[in-house]
Amino acid sequence: MTNSHSDALVFFGATGDLAYKKIFPALQAMIKRGHLNVPVVGVAKAGWSLDQLKARAHDSLEKHGGVDPAAFEKLVGLLRYVDGDYQDPETFSALRKELKDAHHPAHYLAIPPVLFETVVENLAKSNSSTGARVIVEKPFGHDLASAQELNKVLLSVFDEADIFRIDHYLGKQPVNNLLAFRFANTFVEAFWNRNYIESVQITMAEDFGVQGRGAFYDQTGTIRDVMQNHLFQILSNLAMEPPAGFDSESVRDEKVKVLKSIPALEAKDVVRGQFRGYLDENGVAKDSQTETFAALKFDVNSWRWKGVPFYLRAGKCLPTTCTEIVAKFHKPPSLIPHSVLTENHLRMRISPEVTIAMGMMTLAPAAERISLQAGEMVASHSPGAEEMDAYERVLGAAMEGDRTLFAREDYVEEAWRIVGPLLTKSPPIYPYAPNTWGPSEVERVTPPGGWQDPVVRQGLSPVATQAA
Ligand code: BG6
Repeated sequence: MTNSHSDALVFFGATGDLAYKKIFPALQAMIKRGHLNVPVVGVAKAGWSLDQLKARAHDSLEKHGGVDPAAFEKLVGLLRYVDGDYQDPETFSALRKELKDAHHPAHYLAIPPVLFETVVENLAKSNSSTGARVIVEKPFGHDLASAQELNKVLLSVFDEADIFRIDHYLGKQPVNNLLAFRFANTFVEAFWNRNYIESVQITMAEDFGVQGRGAFYDQTGTIRDVMQNHLFQILSNLAMEPPAGFDSESVRDEKVKVLKSIPALEAKDVVRGQFRGYLDENGVAKDSQTETFAALKFDVNSWRWKGVPFYLRAGKCLPTTCTEIVAKFHKPPSLIPHSVLTENHLRMRISPEVTIAMGMMTLAPAAERISLQAGEMVASHSPGAEEMDAYERVLGAAMEGDRTLFAREDYVEEAWRIVGPLLTKSPPIYPYAPNTWGPSEVERVTPPGGWQDPVVRQGLSPVATQAA
């Protein structure tokens, strides 16, 4: 185990899509903030030269956030490149040479999981793993058995403390803000439990399809792609108990406890959908049964949440792009008919903007007779370009050795246990039209009072008002 700051960053898959879309922009941003000052070694098998990789970095930045001339110059000064096959020990000898006197490199495996084992073994053989960290991209395994297998491979070379399993949702400030909102405000604890909350629903909607990733997506599907990881992380932040401290293990212990209190899902708890047109995507099997939409219902059988149903919904080609949590309160024991009490909720939006809103009933101001209206009290913030992107945050944290923003082995395995039965015997799949909220069968897995579809207006947070 190493406590030192990483003295080099190696990224495998340097010519790939993830590097192009996320890693180069994150590296430039780290440099701008003064957070990156060590050699950055790209590795790939593309027959490229270092100059080609630099040109690719430039192109990537032009398309994703813009080139900052001073930071880019520094980035190309730090950049090295090793071209070679991951099976070939020569590639790793060349890497060792490029690392020069770096003794604590961070190896970032931005490559398909089938290559992890080969790369990890070759890192060990070439003496590049001692004192090093390894950062692995999601999806971490394909199911419980493959995740355990992968853990075995990584643990044969690295200590758990030096393994950083990326879930970029943990690098999102609004996801971590859920913990700040809960644990830095006394009033939240008073209502954040089964006595006051009737149900919790989380929606992750995307208004686009598989964007050229058909081959990857068809092997993956919504449950593996975003539910088992991104949405479970949001859920864990919502449902966990206060940690004993804010050190990485205290926080991660509490998250694992949340997952341990969720029973494995059954077919009746899920509705899977597939948007019409998906089968025509490149790389997708003509008779594919992969879901592009899923809705889940489950219990969190902890002291705090016993009896409160939780619902998750995610999908591609939905009417909007937005991730949002809505917790509905129990209705008050008042004389007012419950059908009139339409709003009583806490709404927390993760993206596109960050919002915390209280939905409530008030007296309609201009009404001639007493009548109630529903509305929201909204606090909202639109992230600016200067804020840290999730990839910048997680890469920086891994290089510092801060494990809080990464999934621990036991957490990943619990997450696979929960969704496991849905993967081995997939429930039926229903078609839905693009630009709708999934198949009509979703009615079966719907929170009391219905799914609250996020309304996203151009740059504005919505304030729902509705006369009762
Ligand atoms: C990725 C998934 O992990 O997360 C994608 O593979 C998804 O399918 C993406 O679109 C969403 O991330 P973000 O940060 O854009 O919400």
